[in-house]
Amino acid sequence: MPLRAALVLHGPNLNLLGTREPAVYGRASLDDVDKLIRDHARDLGVRVDCRQSNAEGQLIDWLQGAERAGFGGIVFNPGAFTHYSLALRDAIAAIGVPVVEVHLSNVHGREEFRRHSVIAPVARGQISGFGPLSYLLGLDALVVIGDGTASRPRRRRARRR
Ligand code: DQA
Repeated sequence: MPLRAALVLHGPNLNLLGTREPAVYGRASLDDVDKLIRDHARDLGVRVDCRQSNAEGQLIDWLQGAERAGFGGIVFNPGAFTHYSLALRDAIAAIGVPVVEVHLSNVHGREEFRRHSVIAPVARGQISGFGPLSYLLGLDALVVIGDGTASRPRRRRARRR
């Protein structure tokens, strides 16, 4: 089914965008980023709700409640939780709503510990390194894959010779 509503989740320290390590994360505030996301969602014809929390439990509650609240997809920047939160990983594995993991910075080009994501194996995919555009690309990806109710693309069977 086409995506009608998406949830955007920002994890810890992303409330500090604009002043936090601007050389890495840029000068746009979280409000600026959310405005870009809302404008893009409007162009796509998708309802969007943007939320931020520094608390792992709150993010888990939002992930668990997403389907009930009518969201067909989630764009998620888990911040540093990306690298070690098995509780967030399990929450994503437990829900039916597709999750696209996004990062402002290119986590693969930074410190070694940032190259490992415990979220990536259970996310539908990862977008990293495009600044605020990462969120917009995440929304685009959700629109392309639909709201998760459509059948997953089936693997082609190897031809028997
Ligand atoms: C981040 C990358 C993480 O490694 C970091 O802990 C963040 C932000 C990003 O958007 O680039 O808080 O998720």
